[in-house]
Amino acid sequence: MGDLSEREPAFQLVDPHLPANLPLPSALSKRLNNLPVQLTAFIGRARELGEVEELLATARLLTLTGTGGCGKTRLALRAAEQLLNDYVDGVWFVELAPLAEPELVPHAVASSVGVLEEAGKRSNRHWWRRSARSGRC
Ligand SMILES: Nc1ncnc2c1ncn2[C@@H]1O[C@H](COP(=O)(O)OP(=O)(O)O)[C@@H](O)[C@H]1O
Ligand SMILES: [Mg+2]
Repeated sequence: MGDLSEREPAFQLVDPHLPANLPLPSALSKRLNNLPVQLTAFIGRARELGEVEELLATARLLTLTGTGGCGKTRLALRAAEQLLNDYVDGVWFVELAPLAEPELVPHAVASSVGVLEEAGKRSNRHWWRRSARSGRC
């Protein structure tokens, strides 16, 4: 299938003579993310990447800890890239480091994943709960 410039419904024709498991359109699967492009090559960390993938198969929340500069963010971003096709609603990077108050976290998450917030309403709780329950985030 050719490039899709926008998110669009796609249908697969099912027939016994056709392959059943066609790959996702690559343009679409690569679009659903906001992962920052890295300007340097990723080095090593094969074991840690495997561990992250394995843990994320069952864990809803995974925290990488270590001293500043040891490569936590880079490892997380690499793992996120590798898991892009596993999450139907995409994989999103939320930069929390510049936030000074915990109350700002929901807004930062909402704006990263493209959820519209309405003035006077608390962030779309229904959407969060539904997505969380279905394992989409
Ligand atoms: N596996 C890696 N391959 C290449 N560069 C890396 C790797 N891990 C870390 N770096 C680089 O080292 C620097 C610090 O890494 P970073 O992930 O920001 O650390 P942390 O989040 O633990 O503070 C960044 O410039 C990052 O790109
Ligand atoms: Mg970091």
